[in-house]
Amino acid sequence: MDATDMGNDLKEILVTAEDMDRRLGEMAEQIDRDYAGRELLIVGVLRGAVMVMADLSRKLHTPIEMDWMAVSSYGSGTKSSGVVRILKDLDQDVAGRHVLIVEDIIDSGLTLSWLKANLQGRGAASVNIATALRKPAAAKVDIDVAYVGFDIPDEFVVGYGLDYAEKYRNLPFVGTLQPHVYSN
Ligand code: XMP
Ligand code: MG
Repeated sequence: MDATDMGNDLKEILVTAEDMDRRLGEMAEQIDRDYAGRELLIVGVLRGAVMVMADLSRKLHTPIEMDWMAVSSYGSGTKSSGVVRILKDLDQDVAGRHVLIVEDIIDSGLTLSWLKANLQGRGAASVNIATALRKPAAAKVDIDVAYVGFDIPDEFVVGYGLDYAEKYRNLPFVGTLQPHVYSN
């Protein structure tokens, strides 16, 4: 999928595919330095983090294992509810493991702060967070994020794994939608 497939639904591209690829390369270098000599369990948060997991993990030299969680903090709308439910739990035991949670976006931060505390509570040796995007103006909790791709304005975005009503996840870039899309 590309901008040409969107008719007039696309408002603006905030992060191009090239910018994302370059930034993930820098993040991977930093992660490799920070975890030198250690093994890492990277935990992707379904479904939005699928693209970041695929691209970031292939840039890492650190030995990794991958696992996935699905949590829900959103209904079908575009505002965070703050209520987190585990829809799919990890297959692995994280006790004693160095865990890196990989997310598509941090909005209010409620989902991630809950998830981080949850994994720490299971006895992980360490829990850090890597996210492709962050909306600083939307933060409702103070959360320490070790690796951030891009800080973006507090607007609803789609692409690179992020959806509106399950669409646009396969856009290679991150962008905003025209208002008429939401009123359909
Ligand atoms: P919180 O507010 O808990 O939300 O940090 C994190 C989760 O909310 C979703 N989210 C978005 N999804 N475009 C999306 O498609 C957005 O702009 C957006 N903002 C937040 C996302 O699932 C994320 O994991
Ligand atoms: Mg998500």
